[in-house]
Amino acid sequence: MGVRLRGVTRRYPGLTALDAVNLEIRDGEAVAITGPSGSGKSTVLHLIGGMDRPDEGAVEIDGEELTPRRLDDHRRRVGFVFQRFHLLPALTVLDNVMAPVLPRRVDFDRRARAMELLEAVGLGERGDALPSELSGGQQQRVAISRALINRPGLLLADEPTGNLDSATGREIIDLLLSLRERYGMTMVLTTHDPEVAVACDRIVRLHDGWIVTDERVAPAPDVLDRLGGLRP
Ligand SMILES: Nc1ncnc2c1ncn2[C@@H]1O[C@H](COP(=O)(O)OP(=O)(O)O)[C@@H](O)[C@H]1O
Ligand SMILES: [Mg+2]
Repeated sequence: MGVRLRGVTRRYPGLTALDAVNLEIRDGEAVAITGPSGSGKSTVLHLIGGMDRPDEGAVEIDGEELTPRRLDDHRRRVGFVFQRFHLLPALTVLDNVMAPVLPRRVDFDRRARAMELLEAVGLGERGDALPSELSGGQQQRVAISRALINRPGLLLADEPTGNLDSATGREIIDLLLSLRERYGMTMVLTTHDPEVAVACDRIVRLHDGWIVTDERVAPAPDVLDRLGGLRP
């Protein structure tokens, strides 16, 4: 899924959280958004995910402007991962993964899909456990499975390693990048950790609502495909 911000401004009383930001993210790209606390990172994710609306400018998804009429459909095509996991403590791991689709009619087997996703994150044997029985890294793996239950084309992750030690954080970022490949997703994450950022294809740095640097670490996936078979 391709994403574009065109002159996006987001204001709060007395403060401009994002100031006329232009950003184009290609289909399949993994982009890290970095910058100090309060620089606008989460705001960018919320706007891309359709949980927030710009005051000026437009968010485009695959070339089409994200209008209010399209928001509900869009949110269902986006997966979201949070710093603090946000699992429901009274539900088993398997039920947590299925939770987003329990109230809705879907055209797939919820349980089979949830099991497949738990296996994909290395927790195929832990479906009956409660979140409190798992480590932080394992809980984040569950949250990642839950984010993928609708097979999103876009995965957004807000400081996904922020509550984990650096070795576990590194495992989580490697997992996210491999799931991105496996399920053909575009991925946008925010992070304070330079090690997490350099693992992505591109690093966008914000300061006070502006993009101050936009640095390519690896070629975009479509460029690699055109070069032919160079992907690891
Ligand atoms: N709901 C809100 N009401 C008022 N100010 C907000 C709100 N959400 C974010 N902000 C402000 O907007 C700026 C950017 O916030 P945010 O995108 O959360 O930054 P970051 O994720 O980089 O820490 C900050 O100054 C923050 O205080
Ligand atoms: Mg934030």
